[in-house]
Amino acid sequence: MPNTLLALNWKMNKTPTEARAWAEELKEKYVPVDGVELAVMAPALDLSSLAANLPAGVEFGGQDVSEHESGAYTGEISAAMLKDTGATYVVIGHSERRDYHQETDAQVAAKAKQAQANGLVPIVCVGEKLDVREKGEQVAFTLRQLEGSLAGVGAEVVVAYEPVWAIGTGKTATADDAEELAAAIREALKQQYGAKAGSIRILYGGSVKPENIAEICSKPNVNGALVGGASLKVPDVLGMNAALK
Ligand code: PGA
Repeated sequence: MPNTLLALNWKMNKTPTEARAWAEELKEKYVPVDGVELAVMAPALDLSSLAANLPAGVEFGGQDVSEHESGAYTGEISAAMLKDTGATYVVIGHSERRDYHQETDAQVAAKAKQAQANGLVPIVCVGEKLDVREKGEQVAFTLRQLEGSLAGVGAEVVVAYEPVWAIGTGKTATADDAEELAAAIREALKQQYGAKAGSIRILYGGSVKPENIAEICSKPNVNGALVGGASLKVPDVLGMNAALK
């Protein structure tokens, strides 16, 4: 069984000064839990501040990366730049990127390959919108998105299942809903990666908080969570970490 990954997604929150204060507060109070890995996905500008101030053993990463290696791409951040800050992970294909920046599955796959080529572990996000779920097509939709998003991507990857209707809405999928998709994703990963699929972490994301994380992560195919709103305050993070004991 792989370690459980508690991945925090700050989205567009926290200045470098605020990131430092958050990291210092975490350092004072953080008690590592056996078998649980904590990682903070922060705005790129915050990463140096996190590198200098996070407690030992807590990792960090970016929230997006360019699909290109380097060059004339004004405003973009390369995988090599993220890696150079000490980042371990990068979130790719979050539904907010897919929706507001029209990112396609092919771009998500290209970004994930670029991340891997530079020694980062991509956290590739997939998940259906409400209309798809209401038609009962969530498994077929999500697996199609997964196939395109992992085309040509190596097995050093994390998959985050985030049903879009549960993100930031307070509506959490039930633990059984999460497991339904995680089990289907696991089968698809076996087809693509064979025996290595067993060690790929599948996260659930969407209104995860201290009160519901333990039940969701107790499911056999759910190996952690990607957390937005509840990642911003240190006491919530400590609560989620402790709940995974
Ligand atoms: P939420 O966000 O926890 O605020 O629902 C999750 C995410 O978007 O990764």
